[in-house]
Amino acid sequence: MANSTPVTSDQPARYMVTSALPYANGPIHVGHIAGAYLPADIYVRYLRARQRDVVWVCGSDEHGAAITLRARKEGCSPREIVDRYHTEMQAGFAGLGIDFDHYDRTSAAHHHAFAQDFFKTLNEKGAFEVETRKQYFDEKESQFLADRYITGVCPKCDSAGAYGDQCEACGSALSPEDLVDPVSALSGNAPVLRETSHWYLPMGRHETWLKDYIENGALDGAPHHDAKAWKAHVKGQCRSWIDGGLHNRAMTRDLDWGVKVPVEGAEGKVLYVWLDAPLGYITATQQWAEKQGRDWRPYWQSPDTQLVHFIGKDNIVFHCIIFPILLREHGGYLLPHNVPANEFLNLEGDKISTSRNWAVWATDYINSFPDRADELRYVLASIMPEQRDAEFTWADFGARVNNELADVLGNFVNRVLVLTSKYFDGVVPAPGGAFTPVDEALRAHIARAPEEVASAIERYRFREALQEAMGLVRAGNKYLTEEEPWKVFKTDPDRVRTILNLALQVTANAAVLLAPFMPSVASKLSNTLGTTGLPWEATGSDMVTENTQLQHLPILFEKITSEQIEEEVAKLGPHNKNMSDALAK
Ligand code: MF3
Ligand code: ZN
Repeated sequence: MANSTPVTSDQPARYMVTSALPYANGPIHVGHIAGAYLPADIYVRYLRARQRDVVWVCGSDEHGAAITLRARKEGCSPREIVDRYHTEMQAGFAGLGIDFDHYDRTSAAHHHAFAQDFFKTLNEKGAFEVETRKQYFDEKESQFLADRYITGVCPKCDSAGAYGDQCEACGSALSPEDLVDPVSALSGNAPVLRETSHWYLPMGRHETWLKDYIENGALDGAPHHDAKAWKAHVKGQCRSWIDGGLHNRAMTRDLDWGVKVPVEGAEGKVLYVWLDAPLGYITATQQWAEKQGRDWRPYWQSPDTQLVHFIGKDNIVFHCIIFPILLREHGGYLLPHNVPANEFLNLEGDKISTSRNWAVWATDYINSFPDRADELRYVLASIMPEQRDAEFTWADFGARVNNELADVLGNFVNRVLVLTSKYFDGVVPAPGGAFTPVDEALRAHIARAPEEVASAIERYRFREALQEAMGLVRAGNKYLTEEEPWKVFKTDPDRVRTILNLALQVTANAAVLLAPFMPSVASKLSNTLGTTGLPWEATGSDMVTENTQLQHLPILFEKITSEQIEEEVAKLGPHNKNMSDALAK
Protein backbone atom coordinates (compact mmCIF):
# COMPACT_ATOMS: atom_id res chain seq x y z
CA MET A 1 0.00 0.00 0.00
CA ALA A 2 2.97 2.20 -0.27
CA ASN A 3 3.45 3.93 -3.59
CA SER A 4 0.31 6.00 -3.55
CA THR A 5 0.98 9.62 -4.23
CA PRO A 6 -1.89 12.05 -4.08
CA VAL A 7 -2.54 14.00 -7.24
CA THR A 8 -0.63 17.21 -6.83
CA SER A 9 -1.65 19.73 -9.38
CA ASP A 10 -0.11 22.28 -7.06
CA GLN A 11 3.34 22.21 -5.68
CA PRO A 12 4.67 19.00 -4.21
CA ALA A 13 6.80 19.16 -1.06
CA ARG A 14 9.86 18.06 -3.05
CA TYR A 15 11.06 16.83 -6.42
CA MET A 16 13.21 13.81 -7.14
CA VAL A 17 14.65 14.25 -10.62
CA THR A 18 16.75 11.70 -12.50
CA SER A 19 18.47 11.59 -15.89
CA ALA A 20 19.18 8.25 -17.59
CA LEU A 21 22.51 6.85 -16.46
CA PRO A 22 24.60 6.94 -19.65
CA TYR A 23 26.50 3.76 -20.60
CA ALA A 24 30.17 4.23 -19.83
CA ASN A 25 31.19 2.90 -23.23
CA GLY A 26 31.55 6.04 -25.30
CA PRO A 27 31.59 9.82 -25.01
CA ILE A 28 28.57 12.10 -24.66
CA HIS A 29 27.13 13.69 -27.82
CA VAL A 30 24.43 16.25 -28.63
CA GLY A 31 21.80 13.51 -28.95
CA HIS A 32 22.31 12.53 -25.33
CA ILE A 33 22.34 16.16 -24.22
CA ALA A 34 19.12 17.12 -26.02
CA GLY A 35 17.42 13.91 -24.89
CA ALA A 36 17.88 13.44 -21.18
CA TYR A 37 20.33 15.99 -19.73
CA LEU A 38 19.58 19.49 -20.99
CA PRO A 39 15.80 19.26 -20.36
CA ALA A 40 16.46 18.03 -16.83
CA ASP A 41 19.07 20.73 -16.26
CA ILE A 42 16.63 23.43 -17.39
CA TYR A 43 13.86 21.98 -15.24
CA VAL A 44 16.06 21.73 -12.15
CA ARG A 45 17.63 25.19 -12.57
CA TYR A 46 14.11 26.57 -12.79
CA LEU A 47 12.99 24.72 -9.65
CA ARG A 48 16.08 25.90 -7.77
CA ALA A 49 15.39 29.49 -8.87
CA ARG A 50 11.96 29.11 -7.32
CA GLN A 51 13.55 27.76 -4.17
CA ARG A 52 11.79 24.42 -4.45
CA ASP A 53 13.23 21.39 -2.72
CA VAL A 54 14.81 19.35 -5.53
CA VAL A 55 17.52 16.74 -5.93
CA TRP A 56 18.81 15.73 -9.34
CA VAL A 57 20.98 12.66 -9.73
CA CYS A 58 22.72 10.79 -12.49
CA GLY A 59 25.76 8.56 -12.88
CA SER A 60 27.57 6.19 -15.19
CA ASP A 61 25.87 2.92 -16.15
CA GLU A 62 28.90 0.66 -15.96
CA HIS A 63 27.49 -2.82 -16.39
CA GLY A 64 25.92 -4.79 -19.20
CA ALA A 65 26.99 -6.30 -22.47
CA ALA A 66 27.55 -2.89 -24.08
CA ILE A 67 30.58 -2.43 -21.80
CA THR A 68 32.03 -5.93 -22.00
CA LEU A 69 31.68 -6.02 -25.77
CA ARG A 70 33.55 -2.76 -26.11
CA ALA A 71 36.30 -3.93 -23.76
CA ARG A 72 36.75 -7.02 -25.92
CA LYS A 73 37.00 -4.96 -29.08
CA GLU A 74 39.64 -2.76 -27.55
CA GLY A 75 41.45 -5.65 -25.94
CA CYS A 76 41.25 -4.23 -22.44
CA SER A 77 39.27 -4.85 -19.28
CA PRO A 78 35.75 -3.57 -18.64
CA ARG A 79 37.20 -1.69 -15.68
CA GLU A 80 39.52 0.29 -17.96
CA ILE A 81 36.60 1.16 -20.25
CA VAL A 82 34.31 2.40 -17.50
CA ASP A 83 37.05 4.35 -15.75
CA ARG A 84 37.93 6.12 -18.97
CA TYR A 85 34.38 7.07 -19.91
CA HIS A 86 33.24 7.81 -16.36
CA THR A 87 35.83 10.60 -16.37
CA GLU A 88 35.29 11.70 -19.95
CA MET A 89 31.49 11.87 -19.68
CA GLN A 90 31.72 14.07 -16.61
CA ALA A 91 33.99 16.46 -18.48
CA GLY A 92 31.41 16.64 -21.27
CA PHE A 93 28.57 17.39 -18.87
CA ALA A 94 30.55 19.95 -16.89
CA GLY A 95 31.65 21.76 -20.03
CA LEU A 96 28.04 22.21 -21.12
CA GLY A 97 26.90 23.45 -17.72
CA ILE A 98 24.95 20.27 -16.92
CA ASP A 99 24.92 20.59 -13.16
CA PHE A 100 23.76 17.44 -11.34
CA ASP A 101 23.47 17.50 -7.56
CA HIS A 102 25.30 14.20 -7.61
CA TYR A 103 26.91 12.05 -10.29
CA ASP A 104 27.62 8.48 -9.25
CA ARG A 105 28.60 5.19 -10.87
CA THR A 106 27.09 1.72 -10.72
CA SER A 107 30.38 -0.12 -10.24
CA ALA A 108 30.70 1.48 -6.77
CA ALA A 109 30.59 -0.91 -3.81
CA HIS A 110 27.69 0.96 -2.19
CA HIS A 111 25.64 0.46 -5.34
CA HIS A 112 26.39 -3.27 -5.54
CA ALA A 113 25.41 -3.75 -1.89
CA PHE A 114 22.10 -1.91 -2.29
CA ALA A 115 21.20 -3.63 -5.57
CA GLN A 116 21.88 -7.06 -4.04
CA ASP A 117 19.76 -6.22 -1.07
CA PHE A 118 16.94 -5.01 -3.27
CA PHE A 119 17.10 -8.19 -5.35
CA LYS A 120 17.04 -10.37 -2.23
CA THR A 121 13.91 -8.66 -0.96
CA LEU A 122 12.21 -9.13 -4.32
CA ASN A 123 13.24 -12.76 -4.39
CA GLU A 124 11.97 -13.37 -0.86
CA LYS A 125 8.67 -11.72 -1.75
CA GLY A 126 8.20 -14.13 -4.63
CA ALA A 127 8.53 -11.49 -7.32
CA PHE A 128 10.47 -13.83 -9.64
CA GLU A 129 10.01 -17.24 -11.25
CA VAL A 130 13.16 -19.29 -11.74
CA GLU A 131 13.09 -20.99 -15.12
CA THR A 132 15.49 -23.17 -17.01
CA ARG A 133 15.63 -22.44 -20.71
CA LYS A 134 17.94 -23.07 -23.59
CA GLN A 135 20.25 -20.24 -24.52
CA TYR A 136 23.03 -19.74 -27.00
CA PHE A 137 26.42 -20.74 -25.69
CA ASP A 138 29.83 -20.17 -27.27
CA GLU A 139 31.71 -23.45 -26.82
CA LYS A 140 35.10 -22.04 -27.74
CA GLU A 141 34.86 -19.23 -25.18
CA SER A 142 32.76 -21.39 -22.82
CA GLN A 143 30.33 -18.54 -22.21
CA PHE A 144 26.62 -17.95 -22.54
CA LEU A 145 25.98 -15.17 -24.99
CA ALA A 146 24.15 -11.98 -24.17
CA ASP A 147 21.64 -10.98 -26.88
CA ARG A 148 24.01 -8.33 -28.21
CA TYR A 149 26.78 -10.90 -28.62
CA ILE A 150 24.86 -12.83 -31.25
CA THR A 151 24.45 -11.62 -34.81
CA GLY A 152 22.77 -13.19 -37.76
CA VAL A 153 20.32 -12.65 -40.58
CA CYS A 154 17.10 -10.85 -39.68
CA PRO A 155 14.07 -13.15 -40.13
CA LYS A 156 11.89 -10.13 -40.97
CA CYS A 157 13.94 -8.23 -43.56
CA ASP A 158 16.76 -10.65 -44.46
CA SER A 159 19.54 -8.17 -43.74
CA ALA A 160 22.75 -9.54 -42.32
CA GLY A 161 24.21 -8.23 -39.07
CA ALA A 162 21.02 -8.16 -36.99
CA TYR A 163 21.58 -8.45 -33.23
CA GLY A 164 20.00 -10.97 -30.88
CA ASP A 165 17.74 -8.30 -29.44
CA GLN A 166 17.10 -6.07 -32.43
CA CYS A 167 17.58 -5.62 -36.15
CA GLU A 168 18.90 -2.14 -36.73
CA ALA A 169 18.05 -2.29 -40.43
CA CYS A 170 14.28 -2.73 -40.00
CA GLY A 171 13.92 -1.86 -36.32
CA SER A 172 12.23 -5.15 -35.34
CA ALA A 173 12.64 -6.39 -31.79
CA LEU A 174 14.08 -9.90 -31.92
CA SER A 175 15.06 -12.82 -29.72
CA PRO A 176 18.38 -14.58 -30.36
CA GLU A 177 16.56 -17.74 -31.48
CA ASP A 178 14.84 -15.73 -34.25
CA LEU A 179 18.12 -15.08 -36.04
CA VAL A 180 18.95 -17.09 -39.14
CA ASP A 181 22.55 -18.44 -39.17
CA PRO A 182 23.50 -17.04 -35.77
CA VAL A 183 27.15 -16.26 -35.11
CA SER A 184 28.88 -15.53 -31.81
CA ALA A 185 30.51 -12.12 -31.65
CA LEU A 186 33.14 -13.61 -29.35
CA SER A 187 34.60 -16.43 -31.43
CA GLY A 188 32.86 -15.98 -34.77
CA ASN A 189 31.59 -19.56 -34.48
CA ALA A 190 28.02 -20.75 -34.60
CA PRO A 191 26.75 -20.92 -31.01
CA VAL A 192 24.96 -23.96 -29.57
CA LEU A 193 21.87 -24.07 -27.39
CA ARG A 194 22.43 -25.04 -23.76
CA GLU A 195 20.25 -25.01 -20.68
CA THR A 196 20.65 -22.34 -18.04
CA SER A 197 18.50 -21.09 -15.15
CA HIS A 198 17.47 -17.50 -14.60
CA TRP A 199 15.25 -15.37 -12.39
CA TYR A 200 12.40 -14.11 -14.53
CA LEU A 201 10.08 -11.23 -13.80
CA PRO A 202 6.55 -12.33 -14.65
CA MET A 203 5.40 -8.99 -16.00
CA GLY A 204 2.04 -10.39 -17.04
CA ARG A 205 1.01 -10.45 -13.37
CA HIS A 206 1.14 -6.68 -13.35
CA GLU A 207 -0.86 -5.88 -16.43
CA THR A 208 -4.03 -4.67 -14.72
CA TRP A 209 -2.57 -2.10 -12.38
CA LEU A 210 -0.01 -0.96 -14.96
CA LYS A 211 -2.79 -0.17 -17.40
CA ASP A 212 -4.67 1.84 -14.81
CA TYR A 213 -1.48 3.63 -13.79
CA ILE A 214 -0.48 4.58 -17.32
CA GLU A 215 -3.88 5.23 -18.91
CA ASN A 216 -5.62 6.85 -15.95
CA GLY A 217 -2.82 7.95 -13.65
CA ALA A 218 -4.38 5.81 -10.93
CA LEU A 219 -2.86 3.41 -8.44
CA ASP A 220 -4.85 1.11 -6.17
CA GLY A 221 -7.96 2.89 -7.32
CA ALA A 222 -6.70 6.28 -6.11
CA PRO A 223 -5.48 9.16 -8.27
CA HIS A 224 -1.68 9.13 -8.55
CA HIS A 225 -0.79 11.63 -11.29
CA ASP A 226 -2.42 13.50 -14.13
CA ALA A 227 -2.35 11.02 -17.00
CA LYS A 228 -3.07 13.85 -19.43
CA ALA A 229 0.24 15.42 -18.46
CA TRP A 230 2.16 12.45 -19.87
CA LYS A 231 3.39 12.80 -23.43
CA ALA A 232 1.30 11.00 -26.02
CA HIS A 233 4.27 9.14 -27.48
CA VAL A 234 5.26 7.86 -24.03
CA LYS A 235 1.80 6.51 -23.31
CA GLY A 236 1.58 5.14 -26.85
CA GLN A 237 4.76 3.11 -26.43
CA CYS A 238 3.61 1.73 -23.08
CA ARG A 239 0.25 0.84 -24.55
CA SER A 240 1.78 -1.10 -27.40
CA TRP A 241 4.00 -3.04 -24.98
CA ILE A 242 1.08 -3.90 -22.75
CA ASP A 243 -1.20 -4.75 -25.66
CA GLY A 244 1.52 -6.93 -27.16
CA GLY A 245 1.41 -9.02 -23.99
CA LEU A 246 3.78 -8.68 -21.06
CA HIS A 247 6.03 -11.72 -21.00
CA ASN A 248 8.44 -13.13 -18.46
CA ARG A 249 11.72 -11.27 -18.72
CA ALA A 250 15.01 -12.56 -17.36
CA MET A 251 16.41 -10.40 -14.57
CA THR A 252 19.73 -12.25 -14.40
CA ARG A 253 22.47 -12.97 -16.92
CA ASP A 254 25.37 -15.36 -17.31
CA LEU A 255 28.20 -12.83 -17.31
CA ASP A 256 31.17 -12.11 -15.10
CA TRP A 257 30.86 -8.30 -15.13
CA GLY A 258 28.09 -6.78 -13.07
CA VAL A 259 26.35 -7.12 -9.71
CA LYS A 260 26.59 -10.75 -8.53
CA VAL A 261 23.24 -12.42 -7.98
CA PRO A 262 23.11 -12.72 -4.17
CA VAL A 263 21.36 -16.08 -4.05
CA GLU A 264 22.71 -19.57 -3.65
CA GLY A 265 22.99 -21.53 -6.85
CA ALA A 266 23.56 -18.39 -8.91
CA GLU A 267 27.31 -18.58 -9.28
CA GLY A 268 28.57 -16.94 -12.45
CA LYS A 269 25.41 -14.89 -12.77
CA VAL A 270 24.89 -11.14 -12.47
CA LEU A 271 21.82 -8.92 -12.27
CA TYR A 272 20.35 -7.84 -15.60
CA VAL A 273 21.70 -4.36 -16.26
CA TRP A 274 18.17 -2.97 -16.50
CA LEU A 275 17.45 -4.13 -12.99
CA ASP A 276 20.68 -2.78 -11.54
CA ALA A 277 21.01 0.54 -13.39
CA PRO A 278 17.75 2.28 -12.37
CA LEU A 279 18.53 1.40 -8.76
CA GLY A 280 21.53 3.65 -9.38
CA TYR A 281 19.12 6.59 -9.08
CA ILE A 282 18.44 5.54 -5.50
CA THR A 283 22.05 4.81 -4.58
CA ALA A 284 23.13 8.13 -6.08
CA THR A 285 20.54 9.89 -3.94
CA GLN A 286 21.85 8.06 -0.89
CA GLN A 287 25.37 9.25 -1.63
CA TRP A 288 24.17 12.81 -2.15
CA ALA A 289 22.32 12.67 1.17
CA GLU A 290 25.35 11.36 2.99
CA LYS A 291 27.52 14.17 1.60
CA GLN A 292 24.92 16.77 2.56
CA GLY A 293 24.05 15.30 5.94
CA ARG A 294 20.49 14.83 4.73
CA ASP A 295 17.99 11.97 4.67
CA TRP A 296 17.46 10.33 1.27
CA ARG A 297 14.23 8.58 2.18
CA PRO A 298 11.67 11.37 1.74
CA TYR A 299 12.88 11.76 -1.86
CA TRP A 300 12.01 8.18 -2.72
CA GLN A 301 9.39 7.20 -0.20
CA SER A 302 7.32 10.16 0.87
CA PRO A 303 4.02 10.51 -1.04
CA ASP A 304 4.39 14.30 -1.24
CA THR A 305 7.45 13.92 -3.51
CA GLN A 306 7.23 14.02 -7.30
CA LEU A 307 9.55 11.57 -9.02
CA VAL A 308 10.42 12.64 -12.58
CA HIS A 309 12.61 10.59 -14.96
CA PHE A 310 14.24 12.35 -17.93
CA ILE A 311 15.18 9.81 -20.60
CA GLY A 312 15.33 9.16 -24.34
CA LYS A 313 12.55 7.24 -26.04
CA ASP A 314 14.53 3.97 -26.21
CA ASN A 315 14.33 3.82 -22.40
CA ILE A 316 10.55 4.22 -22.04
CA VAL A 317 9.59 0.62 -21.33
CA PHE A 318 12.24 0.31 -18.63
CA HIS A 319 11.10 3.42 -16.78
CA CYS A 320 7.35 3.14 -17.27
CA ILE A 321 6.88 -0.60 -16.95
CA ILE A 322 9.82 -2.64 -15.63
CA PHE A 323 11.21 -0.27 -12.97
CA PRO A 324 7.72 0.54 -11.62
CA ILE A 325 7.01 -3.20 -11.30
CA LEU A 326 10.25 -3.69 -9.38
CA LEU A 327 9.63 -0.71 -7.09
CA ARG A 328 6.10 -1.78 -6.34
CA GLU A 329 6.98 -5.42 -5.76
CA HIS A 330 9.68 -4.33 -3.34
CA GLY A 331 7.29 -1.95 -1.62
CA GLY A 332 7.92 1.34 0.14
CA TYR A 333 8.90 3.32 -2.96
CA LEU A 334 7.22 5.99 -5.03
CA LEU A 335 6.35 5.43 -8.64
CA PRO A 336 7.19 8.04 -11.30
CA HIS A 337 4.98 11.09 -11.40
CA ASN A 338 5.99 11.71 -15.00
CA VAL A 339 8.47 10.35 -17.55
CA PRO A 340 8.87 13.19 -20.06
CA ALA A 341 10.92 11.13 -22.53
CA ASN A 342 12.29 12.88 -25.58
CA GLU A 343 12.41 11.44 -29.07
CA PHE A 344 15.64 11.31 -31.07
CA LEU A 345 17.85 14.05 -32.42
CA ASN A 346 19.24 13.36 -35.88
CA LEU A 347 22.31 15.04 -37.29
CA GLU A 348 22.84 16.49 -40.78
CA GLY A 349 20.26 14.21 -42.40
CA ASP A 350 21.28 10.98 -40.70
CA LYS A 351 20.93 9.08 -37.43
CA ILE A 352 23.57 9.85 -34.82
CA SER A 353 26.01 6.96 -34.68
CA THR A 354 28.98 6.50 -32.40
CA SER A 355 30.67 3.83 -34.52
CA ARG A 356 30.39 5.91 -37.71
CA ASN A 357 31.55 9.04 -35.85
CA TRP A 358 28.34 10.73 -36.95
CA ALA A 359 27.96 12.84 -33.86
CA VAL A 360 28.79 16.18 -32.31
CA TRP A 361 30.77 15.22 -29.22
CA ALA A 362 30.38 17.36 -26.12
CA THR A 363 34.10 17.62 -25.48
CA ASP A 364 34.82 18.45 -29.14
CA TYR A 365 32.27 21.25 -29.05
CA ILE A 366 33.84 22.67 -25.90
CA ASN A 367 37.26 22.65 -27.57
CA SER A 368 36.00 24.28 -30.76
CA PHE A 369 33.85 26.84 -28.94
CA PRO A 370 35.44 27.49 -25.54
CA ASP A 371 33.14 29.18 -23.02
CA ARG A 372 30.26 29.06 -25.45
CA ALA A 373 28.20 26.29 -23.91
CA ASP A 374 25.16 28.58 -23.76
CA GLU A 375 24.97 28.86 -27.54
CA LEU A 376 24.70 25.07 -27.88
CA ARG A 377 22.25 24.89 -24.99
CA TYR A 378 20.12 27.56 -26.65
CA VAL A 379 20.07 25.81 -30.01
CA LEU A 380 19.40 22.35 -28.53
CA ALA A 381 16.58 23.74 -26.39
CA SER A 382 15.12 25.47 -29.47
CA ILE A 383 15.00 22.24 -31.48
CA MET A 384 14.53 19.77 -28.62
CA PRO A 385 12.83 16.55 -29.86
CA GLU A 386 9.99 16.80 -27.34
CA GLN A 387 7.12 15.35 -29.34
CA ARG A 388 8.88 14.08 -32.47
CA ASP A 389 12.37 13.48 -33.83
CA ALA A 390 14.30 16.64 -34.63
CA GLU A 391 17.45 17.49 -36.50
CA PHE A 392 20.62 19.35 -35.68
CA THR A 393 22.60 20.89 -38.53
CA TRP A 394 25.60 23.16 -38.19
CA ALA A 395 24.07 25.63 -40.64
CA ASP A 396 20.97 25.92 -38.44
CA PHE A 397 23.20 26.25 -35.37
CA GLY A 398 25.03 29.16 -37.02
CA ALA A 399 21.80 30.79 -38.15
CA ARG A 400 20.24 30.63 -34.70
CA VAL A 401 23.32 31.95 -32.94
CA ASN A 402 23.73 34.79 -35.43
CA ASN A 403 20.11 35.77 -36.07
CA GLU A 404 18.59 35.16 -32.67
CA LEU A 405 21.30 35.37 -30.04
CA ALA A 406 23.64 37.93 -31.61
CA ASP A 407 21.13 40.02 -33.61
CA VAL A 408 18.24 40.02 -31.16
CA LEU A 409 19.40 39.37 -27.60
CA GLY A 410 22.98 40.63 -27.99
CA ASN A 411 22.01 43.63 -30.07
CA PHE A 412 19.19 44.66 -27.75
CA VAL A 413 21.27 44.47 -24.61
CA ASN A 414 24.17 46.22 -26.25
CA ARG A 415 22.01 49.12 -27.45
CA VAL A 416 20.42 49.56 -24.03
CA LEU A 417 23.78 49.66 -22.28
CA VAL A 418 25.51 51.90 -24.82
CA LEU A 419 22.66 54.42 -24.73
CA THR A 420 22.50 54.43 -20.93
CA SER A 421 26.19 55.02 -20.82
CA LYS A 422 26.07 57.78 -23.43
CA TYR A 423 23.15 59.75 -22.00
CA PHE A 424 23.32 58.97 -18.29
CA ASP A 425 26.94 57.93 -17.65
CA GLY A 426 25.83 54.34 -17.17
CA VAL A 427 23.57 55.17 -14.21
CA VAL A 428 20.05 53.69 -14.28
CA PRO A 429 17.66 56.61 -14.95
CA ALA A 430 14.32 56.90 -13.14
CA PRO A 431 11.31 57.06 -15.49
CA GLY A 432 10.93 60.64 -16.64
CA GLY A 433 7.14 60.96 -16.88
CA ALA A 434 3.85 59.15 -17.21
CA PHE A 435 3.77 55.84 -19.12
CA THR A 436 2.38 55.89 -22.65
CA PRO A 437 0.14 53.09 -23.96
CA VAL A 438 3.20 51.58 -25.66
CA ASP A 439 5.06 51.58 -22.34
CA GLU A 440 2.08 50.00 -20.63
CA ALA A 441 1.94 47.25 -23.23
CA LEU A 442 5.61 46.44 -22.60
CA ARG A 443 5.04 46.48 -18.85
CA ALA A 444 2.14 44.08 -19.30
CA HIS A 445 4.44 41.79 -21.27
CA ILE A 446 6.98 41.91 -18.42
CA ALA A 447 4.18 41.06 -16.00
CA ARG A 448 2.87 38.01 -17.85
CA ALA A 449 6.13 36.50 -19.16
CA PRO A 450 7.27 34.75 -15.95
CA GLU A 451 4.04 32.81 -15.63
CA GLU A 452 4.16 31.81 -19.29
CA VAL A 453 7.71 30.56 -19.00
CA ALA A 454 7.00 28.78 -15.68
CA SER A 455 3.89 27.09 -16.94
CA ALA A 456 5.66 25.77 -20.04
CA ILE A 457 8.62 24.47 -18.02
CA GLU A 458 6.31 22.75 -15.53
CA ARG A 459 4.60 21.05 -18.48
CA TYR A 460 8.03 19.94 -19.81
CA ARG A 461 7.61 22.13 -22.87
CA PHE A 462 11.08 23.60 -22.96
CA ARG A 463 10.95 24.85 -26.53
CA GLU A 464 7.82 26.81 -25.76
CA ALA A 465 9.32 28.15 -22.52
CA LEU A 466 12.40 29.41 -24.36
CA GLN A 467 10.23 31.04 -27.02
CA GLU A 468 8.25 32.84 -24.32
CA ALA A 469 11.43 34.11 -22.66
CA MET A 470 12.86 35.24 -26.01
CA GLY A 471 9.49 36.80 -26.82
CA LEU A 472 10.08 39.32 -24.05
CA VAL A 473 13.52 40.14 -25.49
CA ARG A 474 12.03 40.58 -28.96
CA ALA A 475 9.38 42.89 -27.55
CA GLY A 476 12.10 44.94 -25.84
CA ASN A 477 14.15 45.10 -29.02
CA LYS A 478 11.15 46.25 -31.06
CA TYR A 479 10.25 48.84 -28.42
CA LEU A 480 13.72 50.33 -28.57
CA THR A 481 13.74 50.40 -32.36
CA GLU A 482 10.34 52.09 -32.55
CA GLU A 483 10.78 54.56 -29.70
CA GLU A 484 14.10 55.75 -31.19
CA PRO A 485 15.60 57.21 -27.99
CA TRP A 486 18.64 58.39 -30.00
CA LYS A 487 16.36 60.79 -31.90
CA VAL A 488 14.12 61.73 -28.97
CA PHE A 489 17.01 62.72 -26.71
CA LYS A 490 17.57 66.07 -28.44
CA THR A 491 14.02 67.25 -27.81
CA ASP A 492 12.85 65.26 -24.79
CA PRO A 493 15.57 63.75 -22.57
CA ASP A 494 13.01 62.91 -19.86
CA ARG A 495 11.20 60.62 -22.27
CA VAL A 496 14.50 58.83 -22.89
CA ARG A 497 14.79 58.20 -19.13
CA THR A 498 11.53 56.29 -19.30
CA ILE A 499 12.46 54.36 -22.42
CA LEU A 500 15.83 53.24 -21.09
CA ASN A 501 14.50 52.43 -17.64
CA LEU A 502 11.90 50.16 -19.20
CA ALA A 503 14.39 48.57 -21.55
CA LEU A 504 16.66 47.85 -18.58
CA GLN A 505 13.73 46.27 -16.72
CA VAL A 506 13.13 44.01 -19.72
CA THR A 507 16.79 43.00 -19.69
CA ALA A 508 16.83 42.16 -15.99
CA ASN A 509 13.61 40.15 -16.24
CA ALA A 510 14.82 38.31 -19.32
CA ALA A 511 18.06 37.41 -17.53
CA VAL A 512 16.14 35.50 -14.86
CA LEU A 513 13.75 33.86 -17.34
CA LEU A 514 16.61 32.79 -19.60
CA ALA A 515 18.88 31.61 -16.78
CA PRO A 516 17.71 27.96 -16.84
CA PHE A 517 18.60 27.83 -20.55
CA MET A 518 21.71 30.02 -20.66
CA PRO A 519 23.07 30.25 -17.12
CA SER A 520 26.33 31.92 -17.94
CA VAL A 521 24.89 34.58 -20.27
CA ALA A 522 22.21 35.26 -17.65
CA SER A 523 24.69 35.74 -14.87
CA LYS A 524 26.75 38.17 -16.98
CA LEU A 525 23.58 40.20 -17.53
CA SER A 526 22.54 40.18 -13.88
CA ASN A 527 26.04 41.21 -12.79
CA THR A 528 25.98 44.15 -15.16
CA LEU A 529 22.56 45.30 -13.95
CA GLY A 530 23.22 44.75 -10.25
CA THR A 531 20.40 42.22 -10.02
CA THR A 532 22.48 39.16 -9.15
CA GLY A 533 20.77 36.92 -6.64
CA LEU A 534 17.26 38.24 -7.20
CA PRO A 535 14.95 35.20 -7.29
CA TRP A 536 12.30 34.22 -9.81
CA GLU A 537 9.70 35.85 -7.56
CA ALA A 538 11.27 39.25 -8.26
CA THR A 539 10.33 39.00 -11.94
CA GLY A 540 7.14 40.43 -13.42
CA SER A 541 7.87 44.04 -12.56
CA ASP A 542 10.78 46.40 -11.93
CA MET A 543 14.00 44.69 -10.94
CA VAL A 544 16.70 47.24 -11.70
CA THR A 545 17.03 49.99 -9.09
CA GLU A 546 17.27 53.65 -10.10
CA ASN A 547 20.68 55.26 -9.74
CA THR A 548 22.51 51.93 -9.93
CA GLN A 549 25.85 52.27 -11.69
CA LEU A 550 25.85 49.65 -14.45
CA GLN A 551 28.91 47.44 -14.69
CA HIS A 552 30.86 46.59 -17.81
CA LEU A 553 29.27 43.81 -19.89
CA PRO A 554 31.64 41.41 -21.64
CA ILE A 555 30.70 40.60 -25.26
CA LEU A 556 27.79 38.17 -25.08
CA PHE A 557 27.83 36.50 -28.49
CA GLU A 558 30.21 36.29 -31.37
CA LYS A 559 28.89 35.40 -34.78
CA ILE A 560 29.51 31.96 -36.20
CA THR A 561 31.31 32.18 -39.56
CA SER A 562 30.65 30.02 -42.57
CA GLU A 563 34.22 28.72 -42.26
CA GLN A 564 33.46 27.49 -38.76
CA ILE A 565 30.34 25.74 -40.02
CA GLU A 566 32.26 24.03 -42.82
CA GLU A 567 35.00 22.98 -40.44
CA GLU A 568 32.53 21.34 -38.08
CA VAL A 569 30.66 19.53 -40.85
CA ALA A 570 33.97 18.22 -42.19
CA LYS A 571 34.69 16.53 -38.86
CA LEU A 572 31.68 14.23 -39.22
CA GLY A 573 32.10 10.70 -40.45
CA PRO A 574 34.51 7.79 -40.32
CA HIS A 575 37.09 9.56 -42.50
CA ASN A 576 37.99 11.57 -39.44
CA LYS A 577 41.09 9.66 -38.50
CA ASN A 578 41.38 10.48 -34.81
CA MET A 579 37.81 9.74 -33.96
CA SER A 580 37.36 6.65 -36.07
CA ASP A 581 40.55 5.10 -34.70
CA ALA A 582 39.48 5.75 -31.16
CA LEU A 583 35.93 4.55 -31.69
CA ALA A 584 35.95 1.75 -34.22
CA LYS A 585 38.72 -0.43 -32.85
N1 MF3 B 1 22.45 3.23 -19.96
C1 MF3 B 1 21.14 3.30 -20.50
C2 MF3 B 1 21.19 3.92 -21.89
O1 MF3 B 1 22.13 4.64 -22.16
C3 MF3 B 1 20.21 4.09 -19.64
C4 MF3 B 1 20.08 3.55 -18.26
S1 MF3 B 1 18.91 4.44 -17.42
C5 MF3 B 1 18.75 3.68 -15.96
O2 MF3 B 1 20.30 3.71 -22.67
F1 MF3 B 1 17.57 3.86 -15.51
F2 MF3 B 1 18.95 2.41 -16.08
F3 MF3 B 1 19.62 4.13 -15.16
ZN1 ZN C 1 15.36 -6.62 -40.07
